[in-house]
Amino acid sequence: MDSSESTSPGHPSPSSPPRRRFLNAFLGGGTFALLGAIFYPVLRFILPPEISEAATSSVTAGQVGDLKPGSGKVFRFGNQPGLLVMTAAGQYKAFSAVCPHLQCTVQYRADMSQIWCACHNGTFNLNGQVVSGPPPKGLEEYQVDLRGTEIVVSKA
Ligand code: FES
Repeated sequence: MDSSESTSPGHPSPSSPPRRRFLNAFLGGGTFALLGAIFYPVLRFILPPEISEAATSSVTAGQVGDLKPGSGKVFRFGNQPGLLVMTAAGQYKAFSAVCPHLQCTVQYRADMSQIWCACHNGTFNLNGQVVSGPPPKGLEEYQVDLRGTEIVVSKA
């Protein structure tokens, strides 16, 4: 028996180049996929998506019926958060949800009927003016229009 034709487990015979080429290609592809899986999320984090200024001047913040009176929700306004509130009287109000103090995201507190920043307990009334806490100025207010069933928020 020729020793070069041995097929003992764990010791591939030198006469199997197709299998070796397959394994090399398989491992090379796996390495490429691993590097892609590592670096793609890092690149997405470092390079945020481009959003044109025109696209951020007006957005659909929700649908009529999404909010009950005395409630609010955060929506995406371009690459910034916005806050849509339906007052107890049923009027829609919208603001930038970026706190002017240290840029935390504010939220509507139904129990206080105010807008609240959890970071340093800043509060704003439903006109966006500072009621208490460290924010140096009020929230930027947006214009709200109804187009059919859509609630459209625009920068004034
Ligand atoms: S970041 Fe909002 S009160 Fe400080």
